[in-house]
Amino acid sequence: MSMSSAPLAPTLADAPRYIAHRGLSAQAPENTLAAVRAAHEAGCDWVELDVQLLGDATPVIWHDAGLKRCSDARGKLVDLDVRRAARLDVGAWFGESFRGERMATLEQMLALIDELGMGLNLELKVCRGRNAIELARTALPPVLEVLPAERLIVSSFDRHALTAARALEPDAERLRLGVLDDKAPKQWWRETERLAAYSLHLDWRKLKIKRAHEIADEAVKLFCYTANDPVAFDKLWGWGVDGVISDDPARFVTHASDAAKAGE
Ligand code: G3P
Ligand code: MG
Repeated sequence: MSMSSAPLAPTLADAPRYIAHRGLSAQAPENTLAAVRAAHEAGCDWVELDVQLLGDATPVIWHDAGLKRCSDARGKLVDLDVRRAARLDVGAWFGESFRGERMATLEQMLALIDELGMGLNLELKVCRGRNAIELARTALPPVLEVLPAERLIVSSFDRHALTAARALEPDAERLRLGVLDDKAPKQWWRETERLAAYSLHLDWRKLKIKRAHEIADEAVKLFCYTANDPVAFDKLWGWGVDGVISDDPARFVTHASDAAKAGE
């Protein structure tokens, strides 16, 4: 079973309904090739992943500024080059069965996503002191080369990164941008209009019904992160939310199918 709203031939009009956060991070170490394979095996065809640059400007799939939480090393990501990064174990912290998992470069990850035919919400992750424009200019070209428009959404909390991304690809149909925020500011449309953005990505716990309706009325897609409780999330579907970014999207699919059966 596919979790996509349009599993066969997705078009730009079809927003993904279920997106596996950092890959299937409930079941596998986040932001790894294993987590993306796990999402695919679970039937989820969209993943959200974070990209940053190593010290030698290699783009890698990684969330934190540091190494400690998700690897067997300490220190900062920016102090690694690609050779040293490839020696880290990024799986054993999550579970013995993932020992030996390696940090994925963006290039390796794109090859896997392309091979599996999946969709990617790539978050340009700008940690404190890092260069947002360099990240966008380095990471985006290979992504645009590999993935078609209907299988890509590029998002960021960082407005400089989004501005640089839009400058690289001015065609809003070719590059769908997502504005990330914890909650939408009152004049939320200023940023989506300036960037010709496709979507807003907001913290589901801070979303208010009035704002959700405004966004739906303007035909801007609305994705909410990071929700793992499908019962508590139910009301947000009624507010017009298009998709959920979850560590375990299968919970939402099971809940939706149970609700449909109960309504039969
Ligand atoms: O893209 C949604 C979500 O990933 C944003 O927060 O910290 O999990 O990258 P974070
Ligand atoms: Mg993220």
